Amino acid sequence: DTHPSPQHATAPDEAAHGIAKGLPDYGDRGFSLFLRRAFIKGAGYTDAALGRPIIGIANTASAYNPCHGNAPQLIEAVKRGVLLAGGLPMDFPTISVHESFSQPTSMYTRNLMSMDTEEMIRAQPMDAVVLIGGCDKTVPAQLMGAASAGIPAIALITGAMLTGAHRSQRVGACTDCRRYWARFRAGEIDAQEIADVNRQLVASVGTCSVMGTASTMACIAEALGMTVPGGASPPAVTADRIRVAEQTGAQAVAMARSGLTIDKVLTARAFENAMRVLLAIGGSTNAIVHLTAIAGRMGYDIDLDAFDRMGRQTPVLLDLKPSGAHYMEDFHHAGGMATLLRELKPLLHLDALTVTGRTLGEEIERAGPGFAQQVVRPLERPIYPQGGIAVLQGNLAPGGAIIKQSTADAALMEHEGRAVVFENAEDLARRIDSDGLDVTQADILVLKNIGPKGAPGMPEAGYIPIPRKLARAGVKDIVRISDGRMSGTAFGTIVLHVTPEAAVGGPLAHVRNGDRIRLSVRERALTLLVDDQELARRASAHPVVAPRADRGYRKLFLQSVTQADQGVDFDFLRAPVTRARLPASG
Ligand code: FES
Ligand code: MG
Repeated sequence: DTHPSPQHATAPDEAAHGIAKGLPDYGDRGFSLFLRRAFIKGAGYTDAALGRPIIGIANTASAYNPCHGNAPQLIEAVKRGVLLAGGLPMDFPTISVHESFSQPTSMYTRNLMSMDTEEMIRAQPMDAVVLIGGCDKTVPAQLMGAASAGIPAIALITGAMLTGAHRSQRVGACTDCRRYWARFRAGEIDAQEIADVNRQLVASVGTCSVMGTASTMACIAEALGMTVPGGASPPAVTADRIRVAEQTGAQAVAMARSGLTIDKVLTARAFENAMRVLLAIGGSTNAIVHLTAIAGRMGYDIDLDAFDRMGRQTPVLLDLKPSGAHYMEDFHHAGGMATLLRELKPLLHLDALTVTGRTLGEEIERAGPGFAQQVVRPLERPIYPQGGIAVLQGNLAPGGAIIKQSTADAALMEHEGRAVVFENAEDLARRIDSDGLDVTQADILVLKNIGPKGAPGMPEAGYIPIPRKLARAGVKDIVRISDGRMSGTAFGTIVLHVTPEAAVGGPLAHVRNGDRIRLSVRERALTLLVDDQELARRASAHPVVAPRADRGYRKLFLQSVTQADQGVDFDFLRAPVTRARLPASG
């Protein structure tokens, strides 16, 4: 045997970092390292390069994902930052998920992306990882995966698209998409105009330009301390965004050197800060599901009642569509998250650590004093007095439901009406536009079987369209209830995430046409006015069989996916709940 002994070839500390990190121990570590070095030298690296801290860069570029269309420039800038700081950048591909190009729904593939991210971080030698994400499901998937992988990790947001203009009216995806489409459905604009506006809604690469899920998760990533300061708001095509990328690369090297692992950042206090920010930005309802999933990876449960109490003390300050008037680029011009966090300071845990190694409070100080601007309101003059999201309880949703009250019609938030029931998405598609549909504005539309297992993947079908006959009559809003989600860019009096879902036999499964339902956002109540005995009778007469599949990812999904109150994560990916329920101080 001419090999040197493994112990001799690989000093114990060498195996802990750089190219030797995670080296398999099959009895001859020296040879394993020798092979690894030989193969990577095929790419032209020198030993000097390979001796540096290695920074993985999760590359989510894809022709199917224009929200990540700037990924090549971002990677170049991250690499520059890594090299300037003395590290070695190594980009690697992972799954990329775009909202419009992921069947049956992007949420179905979020957990797959999180597993891909986690396992590629584990599999490949890296001392820290930069996560390039932007489109709705990508940032949560990456944070979930990185939380489980446990190494130093930093999020790099791709950034929002620019706004466009249609006949001199400023437009951006996709609150305006919905507004124009609703006008087209109502017969107010013609086919030519809807085709014209279609070219202007997405004016550049980048993520949706309003406070949809992508922007919400960008703000949440910064609030969690997972981005460099100011990492949330620069639009995708700006110089500021490229500079953030360079800083991110340099910061990743510093984190690798100091051993700033993700568990030091994703603490209870960081999650509470993120929940505050979600409420104060009028953020997407999807974010509560994603935050629940990320927190679940760290061993925390989310207490929806406590989140609701937190919401009663957290006004909406950010004046962005769909709750307000502006777009992400305006938020950036107004100072971005520093401006918001400065206003929100009395409600935040300022001692939460960020990826810079400094606390959130220190970063707010370093950002300097504020300046006059129109996008972030002061605490005393909010655009909505409570948080954007309210949590509802009642016999229709024993595990809770939510409503984005900041975009709901005040006149409908206290409402009792007759249920008009659709059994599933196909039933809805078949009947919603028929002139014979027995529906009035005072009714409540109920859509079943679009929950985590029902559709499957909990699609954003909770934004049930206004029945065409009502739309033509000028109706703009109607109470809608489902076990699904809705896009963060959508608006209306829409109850979502009814838990447990219909497909697993939740009470929603047993609602019938003509039942009376009462919604009281003031009382946080969602009540089916049918007595328990009758509901039990219906349940035994029509037992629900949860959907199953015979093979592949769909089988895994249907076996393992949890309900909305558990983040729609897979049960086997969550950490054992060993920590407090959050928010603890709600
Ligand atoms: Fe990607 Fe909206 S579709 S962020
Ligand atoms: Mg969306």
